[in-house]
Parts: sequence; C-alpha cells; structure tokens
Amino acid sequence: MTSSIDSRPAARSGIFSIGGDLPVNRLGYGAMQITGPGVWGDPVDPANAVAVLRRAVELGVDFIDTADAYGPAVSEELIRTALHPYEGVTIATKGGLTRTGPGQWVPVGRPEYLIQAAHLSLRRLGVDTIDLYQLHRIDAQVPLADQIGALKDLQTAGKVRHIGLSEVSVEEIEQARQIIDVASVQNLYNVTNRASEAVLNYCTAQGIAFIPWFPIATGTLAAPGGPMSELAVSSGHTPAQLALAWLLRRSPVVLPIPGTSSLSHLDENVLAAVVDLTDAQNDAITALA
Ligand SMILES: NC(=O)c1ccc[n+]([C@@H]2O[C@H](COP(=O)([O-])OP(=O)(O)OC[C@H]3O[C@@H](n4cnc5c(N)ncnc54)[C@H](OP(=O)(O)O)[C@@H]3O)[C@@H](O)[C@H]2O)c1
Repeated sequence: MTSSIDSRPAARSGIFSIGGDLPVNRLGYGAMQITGPGVWGDPVDPANAVAVLRRAVELGVDFIDTADAYGPAVSEELIRTALHPYEGVTIATKGGLTRTGPGQWVPVGRPEYLIQAAHLSLRRLGVDTIDLYQLHRIDAQVPLADQIGALKDLQTAGKVRHIGLSEVSVEEIEQARQIIDVASVQNLYNVTNRASEAVLNYCTAQGIAFIPWFPIATGTLAAPGGPMSELAVSSGHTPAQLALAWLLRRSPVVLPIPGTSSLSHLDENVLAAVVDLTDAQNDAITALA
C-alpha cells in the first residue's frame, strides 16, 4: 500500500491550467460527501467536514469541486468555514440542478434562476467572483443558448471567471462554444464506466479540463473484492489509489475529484498522485472496462 505521506502529495499530480490561466494541481477533491452519506438532510458533522477540507489543502489539494445542490447549500458553507479566503485554492461550484427531496435531482435552466443561483453561491462562498462556475445539468425544457447566455452574462458582469459544463455530449459542448469559452467538462467517468470516452478525447484534443465524477465509482472500486483487488495486492497500492492513478495517466486534462468524508480515506486517495503505474499495470486496469 502506498502509505508514506509526502508533505504535499497532491502537488505531485501535475498542473493543469483551467481556461489557460488558472493553474491547479490535477488531483483535486469533491465536496459532495461532506454533507453526509445520503447527501440529503443527513446529519452533517461540521467539525469533521472542516478537518477533511483543511487536511486536503495541507496535502496539496488546491482544486475543490462543490455545488449549490450538495446539502443543499451545506457543502459551500462548510467550504467557506474551513477555507475562506481560499489563498491559492480554487473552488469550483455548480448551479442549475435543484434538490427537491432524497434522490431527486431536477434541472432548472431558466436564465433568471441560474443568475440567482450563482449569486447565492457567491454569497455562501464569500467571494466576489467564482473561479469556475459549471452548469450542473442542461435543462431540456429551456433552449441551450438561453442557459449558456445566462452564464455568459454572469461572466461579463465579473461574477464568474471561467465556465464549465456537466454531463454533456461533444455536440452540446460545441453548441456552447459558439457562445462562450468552455473551460471544463464534468462527466461521469472511471475505470468501469467509460461512456464518456468520446467527450474525454474531445477535451484532450481541445485542451479543456475533464473532471471525471464518481472517479472511484462511489467507492465500489475501493471495496475489498472489487475489480482491482488482485492488482492492488501485487502492486502494493490500494484499489482506490490505482483507480485514481489510472485516471491521472489517462490524459493530462483529467482532474479527478474523489469524494470522501473520511480523513484516512483522504490520506489514502491523495497518495494516488505519487503512484507511478507501470505500462503493464496501466494496461491491466484499462482492460477492466
Ligand atoms: N457533476 C455531477 O453531476 C456530479 C455527480 C456526482 C458527483 N459529482 C462530484 O464528484 C465528486 C466525486 O463523486 P463521489 O464523491 O460521489 O464519488 P467517488 O469519489 O467515486 O466515491 C466516493 C465514495 O467512495 C468512498 N470512498 C472514498 N475514498 C475511499 C477509500 N479510499 N476507500 C474506501 N471508500 C472510499 C466514500 O466514502 P467515505 O466518505 O466513507 O470515504 C464515498 O462513499 C463529488 O464529491 C462531487 O464533487 C459530480
């Protein structure tokens, strides 16, 4: 198991410049899990959440992904409590996907809603400008140009620095790029789910950050007896570390954002940045799809 703690291991994951001018260490952190296991109305342990967020930064993580919908509203406030004024740490948030109850995620892309959502995120995070604001989902009920237009208005007003999209096709990215520069794309992608391969290839070719969500498949890739257990034993790394190291190697535009509410899992996951997969190990993981 890769267990010796480099003082800032995430800083060894390589640097990617989001939008060409916002450099971050490629191995980031996803802040959905700090709101509790069901991510809706669960009891939150704020002291633990603050400790996890601060520890991530101590370990060299300087890119944190969140959304207004996590909690809802709880994750952004915990991030502010833990890390404001964020010196050297980029907080990416998202809007446009509402929570109406446990397991219920409803896209709302009306321009006036998106603008209000971004202003509420600005207030919760305590910033004048959001470094990376991502449309959490395209709302099929609203013309795409109207949704992207709202993000453009936010950017023009200085409320948002860079714009990203989530769960999109290549075609949708290209439509959006007729109106704005797309700095990032956040789609589901991991060792066992490669449905977004074409989008990842497009982002690689275009120099757009690709932020794979569920990078360890909600923990199933880390579980004992999972698809990487054997390789973990023979390589001396944990399954989660292998899953993340494989993502980091997959393309220089990939910014994995593993989520955890556990300090020990955080320590373990961040060490993926110092795992140097051999070609044979990489091929063996690639073959697991
Ligand atoms: N754009 C979107 O639509 C979208 C959708 C979903 C998620 N996201 C983003 O992507 C981030 C990552 O997704 P995710 O957090 O849902 O899934 P994930 O990173 O694939 O997995 C997180 C789960 O794995 C467990 N885990 C983490 N490290 C582990 C380890 N070393 N050993 C064993 N279990 C471990 C966590 O539990 P513990 O807390 O116990 O460690 C948690 O249940 C989110 O935090 C969020 O920022 C975006």
